[in-house]
Amino acid sequence: MQSDLQKIYDRFADTYDNNRNLFDMTAVIADFSKRLPCKTGRLLDLGCGAGEPFPAYFIAQGWQVTGVDFSSRMLDLAHRYQPDMKTTFADICEVDFPEKQFDAVTAIYCLFHIEYQRHEDIFRKIYRWLKPGGHSLFTYATKEYTGADFFSGTKEFLGEQLFYSHTTPGDLVASLISIGFTIESAQYRQIGGETFLWMTIAKP
Ligand SMILES: C[S@@+](CC[C@H](N)C(=O)[O-])C[C@H]1O[C@@H](n2cnc3c(N)ncnc32)[C@H](O)[C@@H]1O
Repeated sequence: MQSDLQKIYDRFADTYDNNRNLFDMTAVIADFSKRLPCKTGRLLDLGCGAGEPFPAYFIAQGWQVTGVDFSSRMLDLAHRYQPDMKTTFADICEVDFPEKQFDAVTAIYCLFHIEYQRHEDIFRKIYRWLKPGGHSLFTYATKEYTGADFFSGTKEFLGEQLFYSHTTPGDLVASLISIGFTIESAQYRQIGGETFLWMTIAKP
C-alpha cells in the first residue's frame, strides 16, 4: 500500500498542488501558532508535500524548517517553492532524527495514509524528537471521513484511489497519553468539504 501511495503522489503531485488552495489552513495555523512556546525555532513537517502551507508560513516567520516526504515529485515542488526548507527524502516510518531537536512537529493530511498499527511508533519518535515543551499538530481520519470506527482501505481523492487508515479517537488518545503527551486540543474541522480530527499534543 505504501509503495502504491508513493507512486500515486509522484503521479498526481501537480494536480494536488493545483488544488491545495481548496483546503484553507489559516485558522489551523493561527490556532497552532498561539500554542507554541517560542516565536521562532525548529519545525519538522512530516509529509511536507510541496512545502505549503505550513513550511511556507513558518519559514516566513523565521523558523528553520525540515520537511520529510517520500514523493520525489512533491519534493521537487517543495525545492522550487521553499528553497530554504531542508528536505529529507524518506518514509516517515523509517526516518529518524536525534532526540530533542525540534520545537514543533507537524503532520498535515498525512498520517492517515499510514497503517494505524504503525502510528504509535511514529508518535514515540515524535516525542523523542521534540524538546520539552514542544508541540505537535497532526490531522487524523475518523469515521466522520471513512464511515467506520476502524478503517484500512482506499478512498477516492481528486480522482485517485488513496490508502487511508485509522483507529478510534479513544484508542488514539489512550496511546498518546501512554507515551507521555498531554492533549492540548482535539477538534473536528470541516475544511474543503472534508471533516478530520485535528490534534495538538505537547511534550511536558
Ligand atoms: C495529502 S499530502 C499533504 C501534503 C502537505 N502536508 C499539505 O498539507 O499539503 C500527503 C503527503 O504525505 C506524503 N506521505 C504519505 N505517506 C508518507 C510516508 N509514509 N512517508 C513519507 N511521506 C508520506 C505524500 O507523499 C504526500 O506528499
